[in-house]
Amino acid sequence: MDWIIKPFDPGHVIGIKEISVPADKSITHRAVMLGALCEGEFFIQNYLSCDDCSRTIQAFRDMGVEIEKAEYQPVLNDLQIQGVGLKGLKPPKKPIDAGNSGTTVRLLSGILAGQGFEAEIIGDESLSRRPMKRIIEPLRQMGVEISARDDNYLPLKIKGNPRLKPIKYESKIASAQVKSCVVFAGMQAEGKTTFTEPYKSRNHTEKFLQALGINVEVDGLSVSVTGPVRFPKNKVVLIPRDISAAAFFMVAGAILRHADFRLLDIGFNETRDGILEVLKKMNAKITLSNPWKILPEEAANIEVKSSDLKPTDITGEMVPRLIDEIPVIALAATQAKGTTTISGAKELRVKESDRLSAISTELNKMGANIEEKEDGLVIHGPTPLTGSEVDSHGDHRIAMTMAIAALVSKGETKIKNAQCVNISFPDFAQRLKDLGADIKIHE
Ligand code: S3P
Repeated sequence: MDWIIKPFDPGHVIGIKEISVPADKSITHRAVMLGALCEGEFFIQNYLSCDDCSRTIQAFRDMGVEIEKAEYQPVLNDLQIQGVGLKGLKPPKKPIDAGNSGTTVRLLSGILAGQGFEAEIIGDESLSRRPMKRIIEPLRQMGVEISARDDNYLPLKIKGNPRLKPIKYESKIASAQVKSCVVFAGMQAEGKTTFTEPYKSRNHTEKFLQALGINVEVDGLSVSVTGPVRFPKNKVVLIPRDISAAAFFMVAGAILRHADFRLLDIGFNETRDGILEVLKKMNAKITLSNPWKILPEEAANIEVKSSDLKPTDITGEMVPRLIDEIPVIALAATQAKGTTTISGAKELRVKESDRLSAISTELNKMGANIEEKEDGLVIHGPTPLTGSEVDSHGDHRIAMTMAIAALVSKGETKIKNAQCVNISFPDFAQRLKDLGADIKIHE
């Protein structure tokens, strides 16, 4: 599917005042997984309905868990899970297909690690290129039998070990997916498992388990869980909206003229707020209001206005806090007056696409001046952008970044393979139309 997008006229005033983006993807995956492991009815209010999260939902259905849209008249998008408890999963009859979802594979592997059966996980072409050694290594240390193509790639065969050994694991990379995998295995082991990472990655797993009353100790860069844990009965959680989805509109608001709108109920978590810090450093007019506490996290409204952007420098320790926002930050930097540098971002090469290569290639086609480095980008701004034919590389965050770029360009842009936005944000085109964008979708 291709999208043809016309830019806004310089005089276009964005009439809309409020935008709702979808629910948080990371928290939805965890809610489905942990809801399935609780006992009895588990309600998820405002879950994210998208391709990636559907993979996690289907994986648990394949293991005998009943998961349906909530029967009552939902105010939001609500899901009802009949939790089976930590030992209640059934062996899947066929390989579990994680599609494009790295979070599904890596977190699910931690759960499968302690089960009394063997399961196979497969995925699409992009996921089959992504490294799994990072989870294979700690899980093997815990006593799990795992085989993988070239010992690193899907398909992954995991033979669960109901007598898992607790471990102390020092990870070389800051990855919430690896951390969550080890914590999920650790909660089934007999004794204390500790995971330490070089920088703090997103902490949704820790927060979610704590909200369920499960003891997870956090000490700086270390997280410990003592298994086997007891999951509670009958819980309700409410998921805030995704700051990574909101990021596209924060940047749109900052780089478009005559913009002044509010993004509602955005998840506000100290391990995900790098985008706010960076945009503020870049002189973006961004303000937060109405913070509120929900279970398991917090949310706030974010207001954004047209801004004159300055360049900034982003270094390795900041990267985990904005890992998914780097493509759209690169776009913002093309419109800033001066040179922005991003370093210590090698992990971007093993995301849904090689994002350092994809974003520099595609934005440069539109007239940007971005140098690709081994572990980052150097972006020389400001550069006017020109509508062009660009490609998503099958990566939802590249497709959405290019769509925002198209709004500030001169002339029409064609984005090839734009269907991948369904991976995290199925209503994205509609939200752009709400801003007044002219988008034609070619099947
Ligand atoms: C995620 C963690 C991040 C992020 C991904 C979702 C998660 O990956 O890029 O989109 O839900 O745990 P890493 O932690 O592997 O960098």
